[in-house]
Amino acid sequence: MIFESHAHYDDEAFDTDRDELLPRLRQQGIGYVMNISSDISSVSACIALAEKYPFVYAAAGIHPDDTGELNEDNFEWLKKQCGHKKVLAVGEIGLDYYWDNVEREVQKKWFARQLALANEMSLPVVIHSRDAAKDTLDIMKAEKAVEKRGVIHCFSYTKESAREFLAMGYLIGVGGVVTFQNAKKLRECVAYVPMDRILLETDSPYLAPVPYRGKRNCSGYLPYVAEKIAEIKGISGEEVIEVTEKNAKRLFMGNEDFEAK
Ligand code: NI
Repeated sequence: MIFESHAHYDDEAFDTDRDELLPRLRQQGIGYVMNISSDISSVSACIALAEKYPFVYAAAGIHPDDTGELNEDNFEWLKKQCGHKKVLAVGEIGLDYYWDNVEREVQKKWFARQLALANEMSLPVVIHSRDAAKDTLDIMKAEKAVEKRGVIHCFSYTKESAREFLAMGYLIGVGGVVTFQNAKKLRECVAYVPMDRILLETDSPYLAPVPYRGKRNCSGYLPYVAEKIAEIKGISGEEVIEVTEKNAKRLFMGNEDFEAK
């Protein structure tokens, strides 16, 4: 079964057909979905989806673009949500210097605080990092990384950065971008990163793979991503699906042979 490690089904792009689309994913070979929150209101929405669908799990955290809304009160609330039994990670958290929606000092502060939160709650992290490789690594090192490790989602850096994240025990999230014609750098990274450190992800509704590029993404398109990784690695798409499922279960469930009841 495919383990979708990063989707946003609480996004308004799914408002018209969410409850038809999610059950259909099961018939498309999607065994597990990690639904990732981005702001305070989406934390509640993600947990509600995880409560409704047995195969959906949640990550609770505040995206760097939304760290402007964090304060001590809602941070305390966020911590409580991390105790929910279907919250398996803190995320997505990190730094985004491409959009620079929030002052960098504010992004850095809440990234560090949320890394510490993950350690306190004994959860792994889902990291969003764009145009900020050095600061991301520096903060992760200063926070002594995270005991449970995590994933660098939608990896967009060089092989040299990949080496540093791998050395810290982290995994690399690979999605639709790997199928884009101009994604040579990412394909080089995929060739470099060992198979047991790769997770499949969509970032739905964003970043649909070719041949659906530009359309609304969904986990049902993950076979296109798996096929591209298979081509790069010289293995079969089934093997990519099988290994990445184990990788995701090891990270999020703490057991690579986890089976949903
Ligand atoms: Ni995302």
